[in-house]
Amino acid sequence: MKELKQIQRILAFGDKWFYVKDLEQDYHSQYGYIKKEDLAKKSGIVKTNTGKELTIFTPSFIDSYRKIKRGPQIISLKDLGLIITQTGINRTSKVLDAGAGSGAVACMLGNLVKQVVTYEIRDDFAEIVSQNIKYLGLKNVLLKKKNIYEGIDEKNLDLIILDLPEPWNVPDIEKALKIGGFIVSYSPTVPQAMDFVNKISKNENFVHFKTVELIERDWEIIERKVRPMSRMIGHTGFLSFVRRVK
Ligand SMILES: C[S@@+](CC[C@H](N)C(=O)[O-])C[C@H]1O[C@@H](n2cnc3c(N)ncnc32)[C@H](O)[C@@H]1O
Repeated sequence: MKELKQIQRILAFGDKWFYVKDLEQDYHSQYGYIKKEDLAKKSGIVKTNTGKELTIFTPSFIDSYRKIKRGPQIISLKDLGLIITQTGINRTSKVLDAGAGSGAVACMLGNLVKQVVTYEIRDDFAEIVSQNIKYLGLKNVLLKKKNIYEGIDEKNLDLIILDLPEPWNVPDIEKALKIGGFIVSYSPTVPQAMDFVNKISKNENFVHFKTVELIERDWEIIERKVRPMSRMIGHTGFLSFVRRVK
């Protein structure tokens, strides 16, 4: 599998953005080329050989994150936002994520929390995850090739995120979580959300406090033409939030 190369600079001309990965050679775009000497600049304005002025800057985490390799369907930014705000995880938190899939959850949280451990059962997806972790330079994300239905090694976790076909089949999940810690189960379909919540609700160690579907509607704003976009993503998944209380 071809390795992802880091984005070194972004060149912007309005909403046309170019991603520079090699600073050792001139960068060619539809507006002409930028000399490699100018690409050394970390922020400011650079001119192409045809005289067009482009803004140059170094990428933020989110610019690089948007370019990670994709295998299985990832959890969207809107849903990740809700997980972060509802659980209040921060730089002291320890998180377990399963299955790793493309590593999108693991990498996004790796940028925010103290440690992420992520389990993946399939070799081909584990390879994608490992490349994404390396590409983003995340030293606090540990990938384990492991079936979560056989149990969780970690203890005292602040958050467990489950994005796999049968989240209700993870054994002894309370033993891995600190009291007050959260489980967030993400499922695309109603029967999965239903079976997970019904099973966990029978366990007196847990309180299920909400299941949410988050709808994001983009708007077009051009002068006085202000209206919702004609097309939108209708559904991503259901997020069930649970807390360990015993
Ligand atoms: C939808 S993907 C997860 C995507 C991930 N949340 C992301 O944002 O990139 C589900 C993943 O769970 C993995 N999986 C399924 N059963 C598993 C198990 N028992 N243990 C570990 N991983 C499992 C699948 O191989 C797949 O990669």
